[in-house]
Amino acid sequence: MHLFLDSANMDEIKQALSLGLVDGLTTNPTLLAREGGDWEKRAREICRLVKGPVSLEVTATDCTGMLEEARHLITFAPNVVIKVPMTLEGLKAVSILREKDIDTNVTLVFSPTQALLAARAGATYVSPFVGRLDALSQNGMNLVAEIMTIYRTYNYPTRVIVASVCHPKHVSEAALLGAHAATVPYKVMLMLARHPLTDSGLEAFLNDWAELNKQSD
Ligand code: E4P
Repeated sequence: MHLFLDSANMDEIKQALSLGLVDGLTTNPTLLAREGGDWEKRAREICRLVKGPVSLEVTATDCTGMLEEARHLITFAPNVVIKVPMTLEGLKAVSILREKDIDTNVTLVFSPTQALLAARAGATYVSPFVGRLDALSQNGMNLVAEIMTIYRTYNYPTRVIVASVCHPKHVSEAALLGAHAATVPYKVMLMLARHPLTDSGLEAFLNDWAELNKQSD
């Protein structure tokens, strides 16, 4: 399973890249707005640093406007994936981009039928938002399971990026369901490696080793 970083923060991106754990990256207008400054300069720099696919989202709400933005975004770098909201206009844009061989990521997906339509439109990726569903007392991972079943049944090549990830359990469940990728905030990426028993176990090993070496001094 691929691990994508969900961030537009340069420090986080550089630190995550140095861990060798980043297969790709997703941004959205909120993440870029949070950082402020020149979003285009930032997006170009991100595409240069990250070797895998980088999702950059269009903000137009009509197909023509989305295609116009997509034409500009793909000039940033060869690894740009056009992130398109899950609307009827978005699906029209995805079909046209597919014909031009341009990769897309259909975002803000909250139902299996939305994922079905995205696959039929020829999306490269689909992003179900699990955390936002959980926050409404629904089950985000059930949605991922349903999408995986539909895609496997019909052999759709669209890859599933589990998004709106809030904690490591979202990532382990995504992996168990066979999702192609999870896109995670930097904070969650660090949590994936941690376990209190690893920390206490290592501390005990190092203490015992120090004790042994004290005896042989
Ligand atoms: C994914 O592509 C989105 O940018 C992201 O996962 C949204 O997460 P949020 O629900 O925490 O804002």
